[in-house]
Amino acid sequence: MSADDVPLHDVQALVFSAFPACKVAQFHMLTIVDQSAFRQWMNEVLPQVTSAAVPAADELSSACQLAFSSSGLSQLGVDTADGQLPPIFVRGTHCSNQQSRVGDIGENAPEHWHWGSARQSAVDAVLLTYGKDVPTLTGFQKSLRLGTSSGFSVAHSIRSCRLADDREHFGFRDGINQPRLQPFSAIHPRSPNHVAVGEFLFGHRNQDGDLALTPLLSRSARDSCSTVNGSFLVFRQLEQDVPLFWSWLESVAGQTGLSARQLAEKMLGLSMDGISAADTRQQPRADGGFRYAHDRDGRLVPIGSHVRRANPRDSLFGASGRGLWTRIKDAFSGARQSSNSFVNRHRIIRRGFPYGSVTKVGYPESIAAQMLPCALDWASDERRGLNFLCLNADLSKQFELIQNSWLNSPKFGDLENGVDPIAGVPADDDYANFRIPQAPTRTQLRGLPQFIRVRGSAYLMLPSLQTLRWLAQGPQHGGA
Ligand code: HEM
Repeated sequence: MSADDVPLHDVQALVFSAFPACKVAQFHMLTIVDQSAFRQWMNEVLPQVTSAAVPAADELSSACQLAFSSSGLSQLGVDTADGQLPPIFVRGTHCSNQQSRVGDIGENAPEHWHWGSARQSAVDAVLLTYGKDVPTLTGFQKSLRLGTSSGFSVAHSIRSCRLADDREHFGFRDGINQPRLQPFSAIHPRSPNHVAVGEFLFGHRNQDGDLALTPLLSRSARDSCSTVNGSFLVFRQLEQDVPLFWSWLESVAGQTGLSARQLAEKMLGLSMDGISAADTRQQPRADGGFRYAHDRDGRLVPIGSHVRRANPRDSLFGASGRGLWTRIKDAFSGARQSSNSFVNRHRIIRRGFPYGSVTKVGYPESIAAQMLPCALDWASDERRGLNFLCLNADLSKQFELIQNSWLNSPKFGDLENGVDPIAGVPADDDYANFRIPQAPTRTQLRGLPQFIRVRGSAYLMLPSLQTLRWLAQGPQHGGA
């Protein structure tokens, strides 16, 4: 496939850019109250929705994107029960059989959410607005007529602000390792980090060479629209307990012979600055193409660490076994290659954005100095955390598989009883463990506290520009 086969003017820019020049953002959860006034508002703002064809998206000083939940599509007349849309998208994240799949239980359950649960105002659409600084963002938002349209009410808004050096609130650099989209990326075509664009955009070829799921949106038998060039957007507000994270690390680090910072790096699976101990080049790598081939048993990067679970690269399928014989078998059976190609069918593009003010307490001295907000006057009223945003063409095969089968699985790799130490949710206290292989023995930390809590969640569609125009147009041919 050539890059020309994806009409960039039809794709919302978030698929290709995190808008790094925009240091502040505000995410607005909208409830549609009047269909025709909402359509009128959409028609007015659509020219401002940033497309991927915009030159230098990474340098933009403002941007806006628009996404819809299943309830929002239905509000606009789409028949969401016609079997075209995946049931997990239609049900949404707050429905009960979804909750255990993604770990929205206990403290993470919808009754603790600020938005998105069944008892709160419906999140029909999310308007994502970005600005290079606060005055630019507020000016830009005025042009979007947020306060003046009678078509919707704002159910919730999250003011968000990047931290210096692209860190998240625990102090790690974030947003580094991403899949490189084929055919757009300039990295070596045989890089293990190349992923077909159809894993993220409806209607394009995926890693299997098949056309990705492309649901048809219909308002009536004669009024439908393809979703080609759209994607699914997962939005989860994840609150981070920074003082708990660092005080717990300080209290247990002594058992491991590591400093609190080194232990945090073992739990994440990368250094605070984004370098993998398994990467022989010891640089944060723009191509994300390092492997675990030299670290079969996780002495450099523990098998249970966040990053190794979230993207196991070449280390699944026997690749975590030990010994010369296993290595020879792997070489002949192609286990590493098949691990990589299996894993590349389960990737996500992350577009997270921190929110909340930087806490003054908790960090070790060496880290505290680096924890600076980019905009002091744009802190959210809410506590701090990460707006976890990710894109994928298949919610169940990509986001949910990572969350459920890798992060929250106590038996990931050759582990027996430990979930992801940073973002995992143990279904049972017996699974709150973290194993650190160290010479000559290994250390098992038990009873890890839960450092993050879900505070809101939605499955959304990030439609193509053409689909957005169809939604804004209203029923055709006397349909719905
Ligand atoms: C508050 C919660 C979370 C925090 C603080 C966090 C933090 C991080 C950090 C610091 C990195 C390494 C930097 C980078 O590679 O960009 C990372 C990587 C990653 N995270 Fe998370 N994360 C969180 C939740 C999640 C969740 C819920 C998922 C998926 C369900 C996830 C999936 C990933 C993936 C796929 C990578 C890239 C791994 C790679 O390609 O090597 N994260 N995360």
